[in-house]
Amino acid sequence: MQEREQWGSRLAFVLAAAGSAIGLGNIWKFPYITFENGGGSFVLLYLFCIAIVGLPVIIAEMMIGRATKKSPVAAIEELAGKNSPWKIMGIMGVAASFIILSFYAVVAGWVMHYVYLALTDTFSTMKPDDFGTLFGKIYANPGLNLFWSTIFMGATLFIVMGGVKGGIEKAVKILMPVLIVIMVLLIINSIWLPNDGFMKAIKFIFIPNGGLHGAAILEALGHAFFTLSLGMGAMLTYGSYLDDKTDLFKAGLIVAALDTVIAIMACIIIFSIMFAYEGEVGKSVGLVFISLPQEFIKVPGGFFVAVSFFLLLFFAALTSAISLLEVPVAYLIDKGWDRNKASFTMGVSIWLVSIPCALSGSAWWQGTFKNFGFLEDSFFKNKGTFFDKMDYLASNWFLPVGGLLIALFVGFAMNHVLRSDQFKIGTGTQRPIHYKPWLFFTAIISPIIISIIILIEAGIIDKNLVNQFFDGLLGNKTEIKQIHK
Ligand code: PHE
Repeated sequence: MQEREQWGSRLAFVLAAAGSAIGLGNIWKFPYITFENGGGSFVLLYLFCIAIVGLPVIIAEMMIGRATKKSPVAAIEELAGKNSPWKIMGIMGVAASFIILSFYAVVAGWVMHYVYLALTDTFSTMKPDDFGTLFGKIYANPGLNLFWSTIFMGATLFIVMGGVKGGIEKAVKILMPVLIVIMVLLIINSIWLPNDGFMKAIKFIFIPNGGLHGAAILEALGHAFFTLSLGMGAMLTYGSYLDDKTDLFKAGLIVAALDTVIAIMACIIIFSIMFAYEGEVGKSVGLVFISLPQEFIKVPGGFFVAVSFFLLLFFAALTSAISLLEVPVAYLIDKGWDRNKASFTMGVSIWLVSIPCALSGSAWWQGTFKNFGFLEDSFFKNKGTFFDKMDYLASNWFLPVGGLLIALFVGFAMNHVLRSDQFKIGTGTQRPIHYKPWLFFTAIISPIIISIIILIEAGIIDKNLVNQFFDGLLGNKTEIKQIHK
């Protein structure tokens, strides 16, 4: 058996975990779902999900990893026995990493192409209408998508092959500080934009404004899991490389807070620009790839803003992707494989699975496979392209169900003494006062909330009931468009 690898320092662990959490979810997805759901009220709901569900579960996940020093499947085997049904949790995690990384690599590929377009100053030569066409062409170009997603997977594989200290830690120690500096510079830049863009953005994000519908709560909770990298063993695996001195509550809190701050900052940056130039804010995937570049050319120093923004997005995607690949790789390593062989096998397998996602926008694909139309007759009805379906499957099913199992496992199946010992480490006291509240939220509150969401998603609880609840709670149904005007 090889010696278990470890982080070089506590900071390295926090940066790696924050690197996993902060990703396309924060900078690409969160802003557009916030816009789709009307701003302030949705942000509030999302903060609530992070605090009530995300924080307890992130600590629970890190705890299982640190207590066993193993990856998800092996960790559960150690804590619950070789044939325990809880093992399903670890297996689902490995499956989820395939599903998520397969579409993640495609979006990251678009990002890399946009870094290239920004560097060659292509945007400034384009007319407003060209931006939609450009993205449409990229989306539908199988060769280009495959090319970039392959490079992205290659880079991810290269880092993971380097190991915990020599690969992942080295990468996050460079990329995360750069990411934070770029964010801060872009925020400062937005303060001086014309038309009060900055203040309009702040109001849009922070003032609750009604306009929420039932589906928003499903989206907020699903996104809370996705953005904190929860429910599939990424935090568990990173926790397994952690020493026996770190306070898990504090580490979890810092990671969740950093992730949230970056998501809100991304909204401020994007909406300030959109509102400053009164651009048509694109809903869904196009916000960052169509609407935003269109306005970048009007921003003073737009060349630098565009380059830094897409580089930022690329770094964020890369540090998340390495954690996604590390989960299945650690699974094989725990089975006795060496790291190079494990990384290569999983990297290539995931790359193969990502090919349908990369091709799913092309006419050829849609003609030949009818976009896997047979899936439309199933559980995926009306869930968009193959690519969208993968996102839906992961964010709305795998991660919440995985998170539910983790919370229940730590709450009810894990040895009490081990659990409270793990919580105590690093707190400097024998009876930390926040232990009981954390346990209550992990074992009772989170599972109740997650179960309700899963029941709504499964159609067992009627969505209309939820709509009525929100209408009662928030009253008005302001039209989204009017809010920022
Ligand atoms: N948290 C990442 C993001 O927000 C995505 C991710 C999910 C990474 C699950 C690892 C595991 O983009």
